[in-house]
Amino acid sequence: MRVLILGNGAREHALTWKFSKSKRISALFVAPGNAGTGEIATNLPDVRPTSAEEVIQACRTQRVDLVFVGPEDPLAVGVVDALQKEKIPVIGPSAKSAQLEASKAFAKSFMMRNNVPTAEHWTFTSYPDLERFLKSTTKRVVLKKSGLAAGKGVVESGDLKELLQFARRTLQEDQLVVEEFLEGFETSIFVLCDGSSYRILPPCMDYKKAYDGNKGPNTGGMGSICPVPSVTASLMNRIQTEVVNPTMEGLGKEGLTYKGVLYLGLMITKEGPKVLEYNVRFGDPETQVLLPLLSNDMGNLAEAVVTGSLPQLPFDPPDKTAVGVVIAAPGYPGTYPKGLSVDLDIPKGTDCTLIFHAATQRDTKGNLQTNGGRCFTVVGLGKDIFEASAKAYEIVPRVRFEGAWYRKDIGKLLPHPF
Ligand code: AMP
Ligand code: GLY
Repeated sequence: MRVLILGNGAREHALTWKFSKSKRISALFVAPGNAGTGEIATNLPDVRPTSAEEVIQACRTQRVDLVFVGPEDPLAVGVVDALQKEKIPVIGPSAKSAQLEASKAFAKSFMMRNNVPTAEHWTFTSYPDLERFLKSTTKRVVLKKSGLAAGKGVVESGDLKELLQFARRTLQEDQLVVEEFLEGFETSIFVLCDGSSYRILPPCMDYKKAYDGNKGPNTGGMGSICPVPSVTASLMNRIQTEVVNPTMEGLGKEGLTYKGVLYLGLMITKEGPKVLEYNVRFGDPETQVLLPLLSNDMGNLAEAVVTGSLPQLPFDPPDKTAVGVVIAAPGYPGTYPKGLSVDLDIPKGTDCTLIFHAATQRDTKGNLQTNGGRCFTVVGLGKDIFEASAKAYEIVPRVRFEGAWYRKDIGKLLPHPF
């Protein structure tokens, strides 16, 4: 099987790593890829994932049998639709289904139509209406830009001035969704879909806030764990019956089913699980901790998704825990420099640790440089969360570049179940 992965983050490095261990793979390409994927696959740096034409051309030139789309942007612009027209097998949703992620207003009305538990919400297109609403409500609320925002489209604040500033900016270009603020703990649930049936993967948690103790601004994710100790078997049952089943039935009824990954961002509240958001792809940094725990051959898994034969595939529960720590550039999630020289001082024989690159590159002399905000995810594997976290933090300080920073409490600060 000749596989092309689209994207250049640590999620795509983890996907490439998992595919590279498959017995089914004869060639592996990543477009555009990063310095990490370049060590285990062939990067196609000139192919832009959002250009259907360039992706199709690459598939023809490299005789690709299967495309796996990592990030949301190519999905939202219809790259999957274009590949399907050319009869190229692809894992990812059509642009129509991708609205579940690309439009929060669409996702919210889908949830209402299909009785999927979610936060109470109101959608606005006009600033005066929104201002009147915010000034009269006594509820604590969260404001969300409806469209894609790379993890930066949500504001939760008790400061009316800050909320109004965000609303004014957002409403100039998009709809705004206002939601009641939900208390609880978050978990990320990934559902593999083969077009007719589905399989729920082990639960993950993403540490979204920039600083220790869940303080500071939201980020794309500063760390992750899998599985999540507070997501018990009985909670997983509730998640399946109350959230996943009505979602999957709704997708079927509305002609939105697809071959790919559905990501449910949940808040586990006192009343039960509620959906904060849908995404139509794997999460980053959750993929980096999820994939090392799956015992399945990635080629077999991909084939089962594409041929609609997931139910025939055995899945073992994970026998380890994984903790992922993200190392970011100075200034992230605000503005940050690129091109910082990286020194990876990793001792040989560290087989309980994995290092996934995000948007790294090599300069003309072959030296490793940063090329983004979140630069690496270091993943520790252990018999439990304490061992996994300790393994990750043994290696984290050995990933060196000017101003590198990371949270110190990933896998240590855990939510309490109700
Ligand atoms: P979203 O992009 O909708 O997942 O929102 C990003 C992050 O904002 C979530 O992961 C939560 O940490 C927070 N958030 C979003 N919606 C709510 C809500 N209704 N109540 C509390 N926190 C929320
Ligand atoms: N971990 C958050 C996301 O992938 O959207």
